Amino acid sequence: MDGNGRWAKERGLPRIKGHEKGADAVKACVEGCGDLRIEFLTLYAFSAENWQRPKSEVLALMNLLERFLKEKTPELIEKNVRLQAIGRLTDLPEACQKQLHKSIEQTAHNHGLTLILALSYGGRLEIVDGIKSLLHEIEQGHIDPAMIDVEMFSKHLYTRYYPDPDLLIRTSGEMRISNFLLWQLSYTEMYVTPKLWPDFGKEDLFEAVNEFSRRQRRYGGV
Ligand code: IPE
Ligand code: MG
Repeated sequence: MDGNGRWAKERGLPRIKGHEKGADAVKACVEGCGDLRIEFLTLYAFSAENWQRPKSEVLALMNLLERFLKEKTPELIEKNVRLQAIGRLTDLPEACQKQLHKSIEQTAHNHGLTLILALSYGGRLEIVDGIKSLLHEIEQGHIDPAMIDVEMFSKHLYTRYYPDPDLLIRTSGEMRISNFLLWQLSYTEMYVTPKLWPDFGKEDLFEAVNEFSRRQRRYGGV
């Protein structure tokens, strides 16, 4: 969800105003996914690298996250959205973790869209955590290293319960992955739009999905 800072700068506003507007943009995207009967939406809300930002911005983002979860959970319930999260969630401030787990619990029985928030998420970290988890199981004698394959490794990632993404939408025109779902994006179709995230609406989502539907996926075949 890139471009919040630029959105604010263009208007002479502080960066946090862009983040607030960015949080508002989530609603349209979630609704659009509901309209399209999309099953999984993962939002890269805060990366493991974002902790390097100025303390004041990090604090404002964490407060925004907590407020967003508290305010929007009733709406998620109403829309039958199941909330999930991936990343090093224990890095988040205590109050955020509490609210996050509360929201996850309150939406656990919904069976519409699964909305996955990537928080303190890094693709390389996830792979390292996956390796540690595998090593632990080997130490416990639960698995034999010779059994390790792509399938098994996938089951040791944060995303073990979710399918690989079909489509990656990158806003603000950036042409990079930025440490997002490195393992899972192997055969994901990429769509880059110059739109800044706060301006990304339902119509933009539909356009991206439309373009996706015209792509031919061969997965290395012919
Ligand atoms: C993305 O917007 C939002 C978060 C990382 C939380 P940015 O803050 O990266 O916006 P730009 O890149 O400065 O425009
Ligand atoms: Mg950015």
